This record gives sequence, structure tokens and C-alpha cells, in this order.
Amino acid sequence: MSETEVSGTLRIRRMQSEDLPQVFELDRSSFSLPWPERSFRFELENNEVSRCWVAELLSESGAPLLVAIIVVWMIADEVHVATLAVSPAYRRQKIAQRLLAHTLIDAYHSGANSSFLEVRRSNQAAITLYQRFGYREVAVRRNYYKDNQEDAILMDLAPLNLENLKRFQ
Ligand SMILES: CC(C)(COP(=O)(O)OP(=O)(O)OC[C@H]1O[C@@H](n2cnc3c(N)ncnc32)[C@H](O)[C@@H]1OP(=O)(O)O)[C@@H](O)C(=O)NCCC(=O)NCCS
Repeated sequence: MSETEVSGTLRIRRMQSEDLPQVFELDRSSFSLPWPERSFRFELENNEVSRCWVAELLSESGAPLLVAIIVVWMIADEVHVATLAVSPAYRRQKIAQRLLAHTLIDAYHSGANSSFLEVRRSNQAAITLYQRFGYREVAVRRNYYKDNQEDAILMDLAPLNLENLKRFQ
């Protein structure tokens, strides 16, 4: 699966090198510890286990607008969500939900049967989103984030259930 028009005006496709300036801006507007631009370039061009996706809004006039990104790592039969962000002006429109569902379904078709991720303890928006999918807290990584020594919650979703994931597309 390389490109999907999910429905309406949101299109999900693989990230390309030309997207990197917008990807970097979006990341910077979303995280207190954004990835350096070279990290995204590495994920996109060098990391063989990485899959990078973007969501863009299409309108009849004008260029597509990149509004969300996700990077996952395919490790054995697990898909690890490395980063996920939606542009601040476009949140609460189910864009993250649709992008995550698309990404997990793609991973499922490639043989993944579980998923895990780390999230800041204080990030209630993301935790609520992940819980909707069925992710559960399985461990705490103390002082995981370097900017404020915040704990990370390790969350796990197993097994991946295709019919359940399709509900979020
Ligand atoms: C977390 C994030 C990706 C959610 O993106 P989004 O497109 O706004 O999320 P969605 O609209 O798909 O939300 C789906 C559901 O998740 C939950 N949710 C999302 N944002 C929420 C919020 N701010 N507060 C409470 N629940 C929230 C809700 O259950 C929501 O459904 P609802 O709108 O019907 O209540 C976005 O807030 C973001 O980019 N945050 C900064 C980066 C970040 O924290 N990424 C996650 C790193 S682990």
C-alpha cells in the first residue's frame, strides 16, 4: 500500500524528500523536543525499518496542504510508533486517528501483529487517542524525556485487529 485517498479531502501518502521542510516545521510546532531535520532525512532515506507517511488536505484550488506526519519502525512483527503529529490548526478533526489507522493497517498487511509506543505522561490528548485504538499502558520509563525529565508511558496494542482498525479510517 503506497498511497490512499482515505475519503473526502484527506490524502495519506508516503513522505518524500521534498516534504522535509514542511515536515520539520510541523514537528517544531508540535514538540518541545523536535527532531533535527537530519533525523527525518535519515528515517526517510537511510533507515530500512522506517516507514514515513504524511496526510495532506486537498482542495480544488491551491496546492495540497501537509497537515500531519507519522514515522513508524517495523521491527520483526511489531510496529513502533516513533512520532505522530498534526498541525495545531487542524487538530480534533480525526486526522491523527485516520493517519494512525492507515499506518497500522499498512503494517498489518506487511506482517505486523502488535504495536507499541512511548508517550509523555502529561500528554493526555495522545494517550486518549491511543486508548481509543486499544493501546494499554504496560510500563513506565522514568525520566525518559531530556528537556524536563518527564516519564514516558510505554503503551502496547496486541494483537492488531484489522476490523477494529478499519473503524478509524
Ligand atoms: C495527539 C495529536 C496527534 C492528536 O491529533 P488530532 O488530529 O487532533 O486527533 P484526532 O482528531 O484524530 O482525535 C481522535 C480522538 O483522540 C482523542 N483526542 C485527541 N486530541 C485530544 C485532546 N486534545 N484532548 C482529549 N482527547 C483528545 C479524542 O478521543 C479524539 O476524538 P474526539 O475528537 O471525537 O473526542 C495532536 O494533538 C498533536 O499533534 N499533538 C502534538 C504532538 C503529539 O503529542 N504527538 C503524539 C506523540 S506520542
